Amino acid sequence: MERIGVGIVGAGGIASAHAKAVEQLKGEATLIGVADIDEDRARAFARRHQIPVWTTEYEDLLHRDDIHVIHLCTPHHLHAPYAIAALKAGKHVLVEKPLATSLEEADQMLTAAQKANRQLGVVFQLRFEPDVRRAREVIRSGVLGKPFYAEVSCLWWRRPVYYEVSWRGKWATEGGGAVINQAVHHIDLLIHLIGMPDEVEAHIDTIAHEIEVEDWCLANFRWQDGLHAVFCASTAAELETDASRMLVLGQYGTVQMFPFRPYSRQEERLLRIAEVCRTVPERELPGHTALVHDFLRAVRERRAPLVSGVEGRQALELVTAIYQSAFTGEPVSLPLTPQSPCYTTAGKLEMARRYVEQRAKRT
Ligand SMILES: NC(=O)c1ccc[n+]([C@@H]2O[C@H](COP(=O)([O-])OP(=O)(O)OC[C@H]3O[C@@H](n4cnc5c(N)ncnc54)[C@H](O)[C@@H]3O)[C@@H](O)[C@H]2O)c1
Repeated sequence: MERIGVGIVGAGGIASAHAKAVEQLKGEATLIGVADIDEDRARAFARRHQIPVWTTEYEDLLHRDDIHVIHLCTPHHLHAPYAIAALKAGKHVLVEKPLATSLEEADQMLTAAQKANRQLGVVFQLRFEPDVRRAREVIRSGVLGKPFYAEVSCLWWRRPVYYEVSWRGKWATEGGGAVINQAVHHIDLLIHLIGMPDEVEAHIDTIAHEIEVEDWCLANFRWQDGLHAVFCASTAAELETDASRMLVLGQYGTVQMFPFRPYSRQEERLLRIAEVCRTVPERELPGHTALVHDFLRAVRERRAPLVSGVEGRQALELVTAIYQSAFTGEPVSLPLTPQSPCYTTAGKLEMARRYVEQRAKRT
Protein backbone atom coordinates (compact mmCIF):
# COMPACT_ATOMS: atom_id res chain seq x y z
CA MET A 1 0.00 0.00 0.00
CA GLU A 2 1.77 3.18 -1.17
CA ARG A 3 -0.55 5.81 0.18
CA ILE A 4 -3.60 4.94 2.24
CA GLY A 5 -6.78 6.00 0.44
CA VAL A 6 -9.50 7.34 2.72
CA GLY A 7 -13.25 7.66 2.21
CA ILE A 8 -15.44 9.65 4.60
CA VAL A 9 -19.11 8.76 5.05
CA GLY A 10 -21.21 11.57 6.55
CA ALA A 11 -20.10 15.13 5.75
CA GLY A 12 -21.69 16.89 8.73
CA GLY A 13 -20.32 18.63 11.81
CA ILE A 14 -17.43 16.35 12.81
CA ALA A 15 -16.30 15.21 9.35
CA SER A 16 -14.01 18.24 8.85
CA ALA A 17 -11.87 17.20 11.83
CA HIS A 18 -11.28 13.88 10.02
CA ALA A 19 -10.55 15.50 6.66
CA LYS A 20 -8.09 17.98 8.23
CA ALA A 21 -6.30 15.16 10.06
CA VAL A 22 -5.90 13.16 6.83
CA GLU A 23 -4.75 16.29 4.94
CA GLN A 24 -1.89 16.63 7.44
CA LEU A 25 -0.61 13.14 6.59
CA LYS A 26 0.48 14.11 3.07
CA GLY A 27 2.58 11.37 1.55
CA GLU A 28 1.08 8.75 3.89
CA ALA A 29 -2.67 9.09 3.30
CA THR A 30 -4.96 10.84 0.89
CA LEU A 31 -8.65 11.68 0.75
CA ILE A 32 -10.27 9.89 -2.19
CA GLY A 33 -14.03 10.15 -1.62
CA VAL A 34 -16.87 11.48 0.50
CA ALA A 35 -20.47 10.25 0.73
CA ASP A 36 -23.48 11.98 2.21
CA ILE A 37 -27.18 11.48 1.48
CA ASP A 38 -27.38 15.26 1.28
CA GLU A 39 -26.02 15.94 -2.22
CA ASP A 40 -25.18 19.61 -1.58
CA ARG A 41 -23.24 18.70 1.53
CA ALA A 42 -21.27 15.97 -0.19
CA ARG A 43 -20.40 18.25 -3.11
CA ALA A 44 -19.47 21.23 -0.91
CA PHE A 45 -17.36 19.05 1.41
CA ALA A 46 -15.50 17.56 -1.56
CA ARG A 47 -14.82 21.03 -2.92
CA ARG A 48 -13.69 22.39 0.45
CA HIS A 49 -11.24 19.55 1.05
CA GLN A 50 -10.27 18.95 -2.59
CA ILE A 51 -11.61 15.40 -2.57
CA PRO A 52 -11.84 13.98 -6.11
CA VAL A 53 -14.95 11.79 -5.60
CA TRP A 54 -18.28 12.70 -4.01
CA THR A 55 -21.45 10.60 -3.95
CA THR A 56 -24.81 10.24 -2.21
CA GLU A 57 -24.40 6.42 -2.04
CA TYR A 58 -21.88 5.21 0.53
CA GLU A 59 -21.62 1.86 -1.29
CA ASP A 60 -19.89 3.69 -4.17
CA LEU A 61 -16.90 4.21 -1.86
CA LEU A 62 -16.83 0.54 -0.83
CA HIS A 63 -16.44 -0.59 -4.45
CA ARG A 64 -13.29 1.44 -5.03
CA ASP A 65 -9.88 -0.26 -4.88
CA ASP A 66 -8.10 3.03 -4.12
CA ILE A 67 -10.01 3.41 -0.82
CA HIS A 68 -8.53 1.32 1.99
CA VAL A 69 -10.04 3.03 5.04
CA ILE A 70 -13.58 4.28 5.70
CA HIS A 71 -14.22 6.97 8.33
CA LEU A 72 -17.81 6.77 9.56
CA CYS A 73 -19.13 10.18 10.64
CA THR A 74 -22.83 9.32 10.35
CA PRO A 75 -25.71 9.23 12.86
CA HIS A 76 -25.25 6.53 15.51
CA HIS A 77 -27.78 3.97 14.22
CA LEU A 78 -25.84 3.74 10.93
CA HIS A 79 -22.48 2.95 12.53
CA ALA A 80 -23.04 -0.82 12.75
CA PRO A 81 -24.63 -1.56 9.34
CA TYR A 82 -22.21 0.71 7.46
CA ALA A 83 -19.14 -0.53 9.34
CA ILE A 84 -20.08 -4.16 8.74
CA ALA A 85 -20.64 -3.53 5.01
CA ALA A 86 -17.29 -1.72 4.76
CA LEU A 87 -15.42 -4.48 6.65
CA LYS A 88 -17.00 -7.13 4.40
CA ALA A 89 -15.80 -5.11 1.41
CA GLY A 90 -12.26 -5.38 2.83
CA LYS A 91 -11.95 -1.82 4.22
CA HIS A 92 -10.51 -0.83 7.58
CA VAL A 93 -13.04 1.25 9.54
CA LEU A 94 -12.68 4.15 11.93
CA VAL A 95 -16.05 4.87 13.56
CA GLU A 96 -16.99 8.05 15.37
CA LYS A 97 -18.14 7.46 18.93
CA PRO A 98 -20.23 5.69 20.13
CA LEU A 99 -19.17 2.43 18.48
CA ALA A 100 -22.83 1.44 18.02
CA THR A 101 -26.23 1.85 19.68
CA SER A 102 -26.33 -1.65 21.23
CA LEU A 103 -23.93 -4.37 22.36
CA GLU A 104 -25.52 -6.75 19.84
CA GLU A 105 -24.45 -4.41 17.05
CA ALA A 106 -21.00 -3.90 18.59
CA ASP A 107 -20.39 -7.66 18.75
CA GLN A 108 -21.46 -8.05 15.12
CA MET A 109 -18.97 -5.31 14.16
CA LEU A 110 -16.14 -6.95 16.09
CA THR A 111 -16.90 -10.33 14.49
CA ALA A 112 -16.96 -8.74 11.02
CA ALA A 113 -13.57 -7.08 11.67
CA GLN A 114 -12.06 -10.35 12.87
CA LYS A 115 -13.41 -12.34 9.92
CA ALA A 116 -12.21 -9.75 7.41
CA ASN A 117 -8.87 -9.36 9.21
CA ARG A 118 -9.29 -5.59 9.14
CA GLN A 119 -8.83 -2.90 11.81
CA LEU A 120 -11.84 -1.41 13.58
CA GLY A 121 -11.23 1.75 15.62
CA VAL A 122 -13.39 4.23 17.50
CA VAL A 123 -12.89 7.95 18.08
CA PHE A 124 -12.21 8.73 21.74
CA GLN A 125 -9.86 11.60 21.10
CA LEU A 126 -9.63 12.74 24.76
CA ARG A 127 -7.32 9.77 25.36
CA PHE A 128 -4.63 11.73 23.52
CA GLU A 129 -4.87 14.80 25.79
CA PRO A 130 -1.70 15.28 27.90
CA ASP A 131 -3.88 15.69 31.04
CA VAL A 132 -5.38 12.26 30.51
CA ARG A 133 -2.03 10.67 29.75
CA ARG A 134 -0.50 12.27 32.86
CA ALA A 135 -3.37 11.10 35.05
CA ARG A 136 -3.03 7.56 33.68
CA GLU A 137 0.72 7.51 34.24
CA VAL A 138 0.31 8.80 37.79
CA ILE A 139 -2.41 6.30 38.69
CA ARG A 140 -0.47 3.41 37.14
CA SER A 141 2.76 4.43 38.87
CA GLY A 142 1.11 3.62 42.21
CA VAL A 143 2.19 6.91 43.80
CA LEU A 144 -1.44 7.67 44.82
CA GLY A 145 -1.85 4.28 46.41
CA LYS A 146 -5.13 2.44 45.96
CA PRO A 147 -7.91 4.59 44.41
CA PHE A 148 -11.01 4.53 46.65
CA TYR A 149 -13.28 7.19 45.16
CA ALA A 150 -13.82 8.80 41.76
CA GLU A 151 -16.11 11.49 40.44
CA VAL A 152 -16.89 11.95 36.77
CA SER A 153 -19.12 14.71 35.50
CA CYS A 154 -20.04 15.80 32.01
CA LEU A 155 -22.10 18.92 32.62
CA TRP A 156 -22.77 20.42 29.24
CA TRP A 157 -25.51 22.47 27.62
CA ARG A 158 -26.99 21.83 24.20
CA ARG A 159 -29.35 24.44 22.77
CA PRO A 160 -32.77 23.20 21.56
CA VAL A 161 -31.61 23.73 17.95
CA TYR A 162 -29.04 20.94 18.49
CA TYR A 163 -31.93 18.49 18.80
CA GLU A 164 -33.68 19.79 15.69
CA VAL A 165 -31.34 17.62 13.59
CA SER A 166 -33.65 14.69 12.83
CA TRP A 167 -31.52 11.78 14.15
CA ARG A 168 -30.77 13.40 17.55
CA GLY A 169 -33.06 13.18 20.57
CA LYS A 170 -34.48 9.79 19.54
CA TRP A 171 -33.75 6.36 20.99
CA ALA A 172 -33.91 4.65 17.57
CA THR A 173 -31.30 6.84 15.90
CA GLU A 174 -29.18 8.50 18.63
CA GLY A 175 -29.43 5.42 20.87
CA GLY A 176 -29.84 7.59 23.99
CA GLY A 177 -28.96 11.14 24.94
CA ALA A 178 -26.33 12.79 27.13
CA VAL A 179 -24.89 9.44 28.26
CA ILE A 180 -24.28 7.73 24.91
CA ASN A 181 -23.53 10.85 22.91
CA GLN A 182 -21.65 13.30 25.15
CA ALA A 183 -20.57 11.48 28.32
CA VAL A 184 -19.42 8.38 26.45
CA HIS A 185 -16.06 10.20 26.25
CA HIS A 186 -15.92 10.52 30.05
CA ILE A 187 -17.07 6.93 30.52
CA ASP A 188 -14.26 5.78 28.25
CA LEU A 189 -11.77 7.82 30.31
CA LEU A 190 -13.03 6.37 33.56
CA ILE A 191 -12.52 2.82 32.23
CA HIS A 192 -9.14 3.81 30.75
CA LEU A 193 -7.95 5.23 34.10
CA ILE A 194 -9.44 2.93 36.74
CA GLY A 195 -11.10 0.04 34.92
CA MET A 196 -14.58 -1.34 34.44
CA PRO A 197 -16.86 -1.27 37.50
CA ASP A 198 -18.65 -4.38 38.74
CA GLU A 199 -22.01 -2.78 39.51
CA VAL A 200 -24.01 0.19 38.26
CA GLU A 201 -27.04 1.96 39.67
CA ALA A 202 -28.44 4.79 37.56
CA HIS A 203 -31.27 7.23 37.15
CA ILE A 204 -32.07 9.17 33.96
CA ASP A 205 -34.51 11.95 33.19
CA THR A 206 -35.42 14.44 30.49
CA ILE A 207 -35.43 17.88 32.07
CA ALA A 208 -34.84 20.79 29.72
CA HIS A 209 -35.49 19.58 26.19
CA GLU A 210 -38.49 18.34 24.21
CA ILE A 211 -36.80 15.04 23.33
CA GLU A 212 -37.36 11.30 23.91
CA VAL A 213 -33.89 10.61 25.26
CA GLU A 214 -32.30 11.65 28.57
CA ASP A 215 -30.63 15.00 29.12
CA TRP A 216 -29.76 14.13 32.74
CA CYS A 217 -28.20 11.08 34.36
CA LEU A 218 -26.93 10.38 37.86
CA ALA A 219 -25.22 7.07 38.58
CA ASN A 220 -23.14 5.14 41.11
CA PHE A 221 -20.45 2.72 40.04
CA ARG A 222 -19.01 0.15 42.43
CA TRP A 223 -15.98 -2.12 42.17
CA GLN A 224 -15.57 -5.34 44.16
CA ASP A 225 -12.37 -4.05 45.77
CA GLY A 226 -14.25 -1.18 47.45
CA LEU A 227 -13.66 1.57 44.88
CA HIS A 228 -16.74 3.73 44.38
CA ALA A 229 -17.53 6.39 41.75
CA VAL A 230 -20.25 8.95 41.25
CA PHE A 231 -21.10 9.88 37.67
CA CYS A 232 -23.36 12.53 36.22
CA ALA A 233 -24.05 13.60 32.67
CA SER A 234 -26.23 16.30 31.22
CA THR A 235 -26.95 18.39 28.16
CA ALA A 236 -29.21 20.55 30.34
CA ALA A 237 -26.49 22.23 32.41
CA GLU A 238 -26.41 25.94 31.56
CA LEU A 239 -23.14 27.08 33.11
CA GLU A 240 -20.88 30.02 32.46
CA THR A 241 -17.86 27.77 32.20
CA ASP A 242 -17.59 24.03 31.69
CA ALA A 243 -17.65 22.52 35.17
CA SER A 244 -17.09 18.95 34.00
CA ARG A 245 -14.30 17.19 35.80
CA MET A 246 -12.82 13.89 36.73
CA LEU A 247 -11.37 13.21 40.13
CA VAL A 248 -9.64 10.14 41.50
CA LEU A 249 -8.87 9.96 45.23
CA GLY A 250 -6.18 7.53 46.29
CA GLN A 251 -4.82 6.54 49.70
CA TYR A 252 -1.95 9.04 49.43
CA GLY A 253 -3.17 11.70 47.04
CA THR A 254 -5.53 12.82 44.34
CA VAL A 255 -5.56 13.57 40.64
CA GLN A 256 -8.09 15.90 39.16
CA MET A 257 -8.73 16.78 35.53
CA PHE A 258 -9.53 19.11 33.60
CA PRO A 259 -7.13 20.76 33.88
CA PHE A 260 -4.84 18.16 35.41
CA ARG A 261 -3.94 18.83 39.04
CA PRO A 262 -2.22 16.48 41.43
CA TYR A 263 -2.70 16.85 45.19
CA SER A 264 -0.90 15.14 48.01
CA ARG A 265 -0.44 15.81 51.68
CA GLN A 266 3.23 15.08 51.25
CA GLU A 267 5.63 17.26 49.30
CA GLU A 268 7.69 14.18 48.47
CA ARG A 269 4.76 12.49 46.68
CA LEU A 270 4.06 15.64 44.67
CA LEU A 271 7.66 15.61 43.54
CA ARG A 272 7.30 11.98 42.47
CA ILE A 273 4.11 12.88 40.54
CA ALA A 274 6.02 15.70 38.83
CA GLU A 275 8.68 13.15 37.90
CA VAL A 276 6.10 10.75 36.40
CA CYS A 277 4.43 13.59 34.50
CA ARG A 278 7.67 14.68 32.87
CA THR A 279 7.46 11.59 30.64
CA VAL A 280 4.31 12.98 28.97
CA PRO A 281 5.07 15.60 26.30
CA GLU A 282 2.94 18.72 25.81
CA ARG A 283 0.13 18.61 23.23
CA GLU A 284 1.44 18.65 19.70
CA LEU A 285 -1.74 17.84 17.79
CA PRO A 286 -5.45 18.24 18.50
CA GLY A 287 -6.95 15.00 19.85
CA HIS A 288 -8.85 14.12 16.67
CA THR A 289 -5.75 14.59 14.55
CA ALA A 290 -3.60 12.47 16.86
CA LEU A 291 -6.20 9.68 16.92
CA VAL A 292 -6.73 9.65 13.13
CA HIS A 293 -2.96 9.59 12.56
CA ASP A 294 -2.58 6.67 14.96
CA PHE A 295 -5.37 4.73 13.21
CA LEU A 296 -3.97 5.25 9.71
CA ARG A 297 -0.46 4.36 10.86
CA ALA A 298 -1.86 1.25 12.60
CA VAL A 299 -3.32 0.18 9.24
CA ARG A 300 0.01 0.76 7.51
CA GLU A 301 1.98 -1.03 10.25
CA ARG A 302 -0.57 -3.88 10.51
CA ARG A 303 -1.02 -3.36 14.24
CA ALA A 304 -4.05 -2.60 16.41
CA PRO A 305 -4.87 1.11 16.85
CA LEU A 306 -4.43 2.68 20.29
CA VAL A 307 -8.23 2.97 20.60
CA SER A 308 -9.75 -0.16 19.11
CA GLY A 309 -13.27 -1.42 18.55
CA VAL A 310 -12.89 -3.60 21.66
CA GLU A 311 -12.46 -0.45 23.75
CA GLY A 312 -15.39 1.16 21.99
CA ARG A 313 -17.42 -1.86 23.07
CA GLN A 314 -16.30 -1.50 26.71
CA ALA A 315 -17.56 2.06 26.93
CA LEU A 316 -20.79 0.98 25.26
CA GLU A 317 -21.19 -1.83 27.80
CA LEU A 318 -21.06 0.65 30.68
CA VAL A 319 -23.44 2.99 28.82
CA THR A 320 -25.82 0.05 28.29
CA ALA A 321 -25.64 -0.93 31.98
CA ILE A 322 -26.54 2.67 32.91
CA TYR A 323 -29.62 2.58 30.68
CA GLN A 324 -30.63 -0.89 31.88
CA SER A 325 -30.43 0.18 35.52
CA ALA A 326 -32.34 3.38 34.83
CA PHE A 327 -35.07 1.52 32.90
CA THR A 328 -35.51 -1.25 35.49
CA GLY A 329 -34.86 0.78 38.65
CA GLU A 330 -32.48 -2.01 39.74
CA PRO A 331 -28.70 -2.23 40.18
CA VAL A 332 -27.00 -3.97 37.24
CA SER A 333 -23.99 -6.30 37.53
CA LEU A 334 -21.27 -6.32 34.90
CA PRO A 335 -20.37 -7.90 32.57
CA LEU A 336 -23.66 -7.85 30.67
CA THR A 337 -24.53 -10.97 28.68
CA PRO A 338 -26.54 -11.53 25.49
CA GLN A 339 -29.43 -12.39 27.85
CA SER A 340 -29.33 -8.91 29.46
CA PRO A 341 -32.54 -7.06 28.57
CA CYS A 342 -30.73 -4.15 26.88
CA TYR A 343 -28.15 -6.26 24.98
CA THR A 344 -30.10 -6.34 21.72
CA THR A 345 -31.19 -3.26 19.81
CA ALA A 346 -34.80 -4.47 19.94
CA GLY A 347 -34.65 -5.14 23.71
CA LYS A 348 -33.14 -1.75 24.47
CA LEU A 349 -35.66 0.04 22.24
CA GLU A 350 -38.57 -1.74 23.89
CA MET A 351 -37.37 -0.64 27.35
CA ALA A 352 -36.78 2.87 26.05
CA ARG A 353 -40.32 2.93 24.64
CA ARG A 354 -41.67 2.18 28.13
CA TYR A 355 -39.43 4.92 29.63
CA VAL A 356 -40.86 7.46 27.16
CA GLU A 357 -44.42 6.27 27.89
CA GLN A 358 -43.97 6.50 31.67
CA ARG A 359 -42.39 9.96 31.44
CA ALA A 360 -45.32 11.15 29.32
CA LYS A 361 -47.75 9.93 32.03
CA ARG A 362 -45.77 11.69 34.78
CA THR A 363 -45.64 15.09 33.06
N1 LIG B 1 -15.58 12.74 18.77
C1 LIG B 1 -16.27 13.84 18.99
O1 LIG B 1 -15.91 14.68 19.82
C2 LIG B 1 -17.53 14.08 18.23
C3 LIG B 1 -18.10 15.36 18.15
C4 LIG B 1 -19.28 15.50 17.41
C5 LIG B 1 -19.86 14.41 16.80
N2 LIG B 1 -19.29 13.19 16.93
C6 LIG B 1 -19.90 11.98 16.32
O2 LIG B 1 -19.81 12.08 14.90
C7 LIG B 1 -20.95 11.44 14.30
C8 LIG B 1 -21.67 12.47 13.45
O3 LIG B 1 -22.08 13.55 14.25
P1 LIG B 1 -22.25 15.02 13.64
O4 LIG B 1 -22.43 15.91 14.81
O5 LIG B 1 -21.20 15.28 12.65
O6 LIG B 1 -23.67 14.82 12.92
P2 LIG B 1 -24.27 15.64 11.71
O7 LIG B 1 -25.74 15.42 11.74
O8 LIG B 1 -23.74 17.03 11.70
O9 LIG B 1 -23.65 14.87 10.45
C9 LIG B 1 -24.06 13.59 10.05
C10 LIG B 1 -24.00 13.57 8.53
O10 LIG B 1 -24.35 12.23 8.11
C11 LIG B 1 -25.15 12.36 6.95
N3 LIG B 1 -25.94 11.15 6.75
C12 LIG B 1 -27.12 10.82 7.35
N4 LIG B 1 -27.55 9.64 6.85
C13 LIG B 1 -26.62 9.24 5.95
C14 LIG B 1 -26.53 8.11 5.10
N5 LIG B 1 -27.48 7.15 5.10
N6 LIG B 1 -25.45 8.01 4.27
C15 LIG B 1 -24.50 8.98 4.25
N7 LIG B 1 -24.56 10.09 5.03
C16 LIG B 1 -25.61 10.20 5.86
C17 LIG B 1 -26.02 13.59 7.21
O11 LIG B 1 -26.58 14.13 6.01
C18 LIG B 1 -25.00 14.53 7.86
O12 LIG B 1 -24.34 15.32 6.91
C19 LIG B 1 -21.77 10.91 15.48
O13 LIG B 1 -21.37 9.60 15.74
C20 LIG B 1 -21.36 11.81 16.64
O14 LIG B 1 -21.57 11.24 17.92
C21 LIG B 1 -18.13 13.01 17.60
